[in-house]
Amino acid sequence: MIKSNSLAIIGAQWGDEGKGKIVDFFCKYADGCVRFQGGPNAGHTVVFDDKRVIFHQLPSGLTHSHLKGYIASGCIIDLEVLKNEIEELKNLGIDIKNRIFVDYRCHLIFPFHKEIDKKREELKKGVKIGTTQKGIGPCYEDKYQRIGIRIGDLKDFSLFSEKLKQEFLRKNYLLMEIYEVPPISEKSYLNFVKENREFFLSLITDVSKEVYEELKKGKKIIFEGAQGTLLDINFGTYPYVTSSSTIAGSISGQVGIPFNFIEEVIGVCKAYTTRVGEGPFPTELTNEIGKYLQEKGKEFGATTGRKRRCGWFDCGIIRYAKRINGFEKLIITKIDILSGLNELKIANGYIYEGNEIDEFIPELAYHLEPKYLELKPFNQDFNKVKSYKDFDEEVLEFLNTIERLTGCEIWAVSIGEKREDIIFKY
Ligand code: IMO
Ligand code: MG
Repeated sequence: MIKSNSLAIIGAQWGDEGKGKIVDFFCKYADGCVRFQGGPNAGHTVVFDDKRVIFHQLPSGLTHSHLKGYIASGCIIDLEVLKNEIEELKNLGIDIKNRIFVDYRCHLIFPFHKEIDKKREELKKGVKIGTTQKGIGPCYEDKYQRIGIRIGDLKDFSLFSEKLKQEFLRKNYLLMEIYEVPPISEKSYLNFVKENREFFLSLITDVSKEVYEELKKGKKIIFEGAQGTLLDINFGTYPYVTSSSTIAGSISGQVGIPFNFIEEVIGVCKAYTTRVGEGPFPTELTNEIGKYLQEKGKEFGATTGRKRRCGWFDCGIIRYAKRINGFEKLIITKIDILSGLNELKIANGYIYEGNEIDEFIPELAYHLEPKYLELKPFNQDFNKVKSYKDFDEEVLEFLNTIERLTGCEIWAVSIGEKREDIIFKY
């Protein structure tokens, strides 16, 4: 199923493309799965044997008992979320012993990061980002300010406690003086860490070295992207982005492996477009069709439960994501949700100040007027589709149009949520 030894799976839109299901699918054929950026802002849903798991920080392949899961140095970690996530897997009967590896360089998200994230959004007048309020921005800020505390610091608990107490002091001052909220006590958090320290220590390693050695041995590794290309800190719709780099090119720098170790990149995108949180969205549908997609697609954020905004498939975005990430192959998800509409459109480029534009331009995103192509709507019972040739003519027309307009080959089409419902073209 996977020819190359290292395959990166990248979101080509604004996140929530269905990466979890795709990563889980490929992990059956892999030896390891690496999360390389982000933190508990991600919500990757995996459905198997009538069970459902939402991965936030752990790599989505861990339901496969043979697989090793790595959290690389580009990730940030909320220890409380991590502990809960691991408990959840155990409760589902999944044995994770000696299967989870966390880089000692990962920075930690503390209660004050979450509080600052929340308060800052509440008080903002102009640019509200609509963050997940998981403390992502404030934690990465500390990392780049070089005042962050890393998971590896747990090795020396008295130094860790000292550093953390200092940080609580500084952040409480900020919370009280700027945000006018009561201070947070460090006691219960430190107790939690103390109680679970041995367990966390058992997960810590040098992921850069481990992954390098696995790849050298010829093991197959999946690199799991979180969020999506348009949420990338540099190449997304800034400032409506996340605080990490989500694109394929950043994998080597965030994992700590040579860049030529990434052999293949695939883009994952929904058969329509969604976005959760604020920011520009050229093909957004605020009408009945948007509502239909939101309801039928159960488009609620897997992390925050917020309603996702929905709109038509946008080729300009995929062209941009293709160029930035270098993928040639696409996996299209949730095709079934488009079934039953009496209108079907794809945006093929934009008009900006009277000129035609092919590729999405983040800087102009609020001013891009999509050019739509009308396609024949379809109404297919996807339960009966077992191979690519079973797709109705109109569905094939939709897929062929995407291939033609984006210059990407569709590798597979995913239907619904279940692990086995994915149709490969070849
Ligand atoms: P997965 O991995 C969709 C969005 C938030 C907000 C912006 C910044 O499941 O695709 P943050 O909390 O990161 O500072 O929020 O990014 N966002 C996501 N949207 N899917 C995600 O992850 C997201 N992670 C963050 O809604 O607009
Ligand atoms: Mg998600």
